[in-house]
Amino acid sequence: MAPTFTNSNGCPIPEPFATQRVGQHGPLLLQDFNLIDSLAHFDRERIPERVVHAKGSGAYGEFEVTDDITDICGAKFLDTIGKKTRIFTRFSTVGGELGSADTARDPRGFATKFYTEEGNLDLVYNNTPVFFLRDPSKFPHFIHTQKRNPETHLKDANMFWDYLTTNQEATHQVMILFSDRGTPASYREMNGYSGHTYKWSNKQGKWHYVQVHFIAEQGIKTLNNEEAGQLAGSNPDYAQEDLFKNIAGGNYPSWTCYIQTMTQEQAKQAPFSVFDLTKVWPHKDYPMRRFGKFTLNENPKNYFAEVEQAAFAPSHTVPYMEPSADPVLQSRLFSYADTHRHRLGPNYTQIPVNCPVAGTVFNPHMRDGVMNVNGNLGNHPNYLDTSKPVEFKTFSLQEEQEVWEGSACPFHWKYDEKDFIQPKELWKTLARYPNQQAHLAHNLAVHVAGADVPIQDRVFEMFAKVHPDLSNLIKKEVLEISPRK
Ligand code: HEM
Repeated sequence: MAPTFTNSNGCPIPEPFATQRVGQHGPLLLQDFNLIDSLAHFDRERIPERVVHAKGSGAYGEFEVTDDITDICGAKFLDTIGKKTRIFTRFSTVGGELGSADTARDPRGFATKFYTEEGNLDLVYNNTPVFFLRDPSKFPHFIHTQKRNPETHLKDANMFWDYLTTNQEATHQVMILFSDRGTPASYREMNGYSGHTYKWSNKQGKWHYVQVHFIAEQGIKTLNNEEAGQLAGSNPDYAQEDLFKNIAGGNYPSWTCYIQTMTQEQAKQAPFSVFDLTKVWPHKDYPMRRFGKFTLNENPKNYFAEVEQAAFAPSHTVPYMEPSADPVLQSRLFSYADTHRHRLGPNYTQIPVNCPVAGTVFNPHMRDGVMNVNGNLGNHPNYLDTSKPVEFKTFSLQEEQEVWEGSACPFHWKYDEKDFIQPKELWKTLARYPNQQAHLAHNLAVHVAGADVPIQDRVFEMFAKVHPDLSNLIKKEVLEISPRK
């Protein structure tokens, strides 16, 4: 049956385009609720965009356990081979606004919500295994240098390289960003990495440090700098179109899920801190172990409701999966739910895409607030009334927890020469792939050429610490693009 056109209180409107006015050509009447309601709703259509990762694409799918890792993790959704869990994944760029180009040189966000029987688990990852910083207080400063200059409202190569050359722990991530991996050919053709170290424990209470990898079954494909630039102009929504059309056409993308693990003893011996997310765990020392696979097989029906309103938070976790003491991860545990309360309101978990599986939420004091739309627990007492039946589930505690002690103290994790060990390895690795060293130098040069001369010189110095060839290649091309007088 065709729907009847109504206003927002359900009253039928016979003539949707008519306005109430004095005579045929006179001013409008304040009593015309249909017009006022319609304009007032339109005026409020926009909500704040995400402060980072504003432009993105999402889809639903299914995670399946392929291998037993119950010796590492006791989470219920992992307890049986073949067990399936519904998921929702959102991919994104980081620095651009909601309307920005999908092919920008930028890390890609890779956030997945698992609707498990023990609550929602959000794995909020990127497509790069490392990050720009390990002091969380740097994050807002760093992000501002990737966004717009407050005066010119332009992206600004001086801000960008001024920050990065004075915070050189970022070198590893900057090299990945300016390799062709910084411009993935599509969201389907890139991997996802936890970056951070997590702590997972089994049901006996034994725990491991864990890193998670999602490896694209489509393989990795990248664009070169020029292809990415052209697509930014000709089809800024390239990655959204690619994901939507592939899923709509039944060509479902999938990823295989792996972990790397370390015991506390191994971590003490490692040549880097497991809480330093500027470092990778070498695969030869910490082998990859497969545990699952997921496939994206369902497009959302409504972008705003399901993708724009999706709220992922590293603090949304399930029993037997805990954060490590990585200071950036610890800070993220605060930041995401905080921004969701601002962006979507305090009842954001009632929005269907964010709702845990029915029946898994019972917390009688979490009541009221704007947009409380799920019945607000009816006439149930608005406090925890323990005289009424309620179950408290217990889980095995992680045995031999790390012990932290010491007085409160300021800690700034300054960079030193050790931060160039893995970038040097990466430079050597790139030599194994055709043109990849040259592309890295070229991609850097065209960006650095936009900075002032003293900052360009700092960039050459910084990359000379990785390899003199890299520095020389960048310098040669920068001087060709912007010759010095
Ligand atoms: C101190 C460090 C960080 C802070 C304070 C921070 C903060 C934020 C904030 C406020 C958002 C917007 C969330 C929203 O509006 O829903 C966001 C989004 C995101 N962040 Fe971070 N972030 C940090 C580091 C990282 C790192 C290290 C990763 C990856 C390993 C990461 C991955 C993501 C992803 C994937 C999204 C988009 C989630 C989505 O699709 O909705 N962030 N971050």
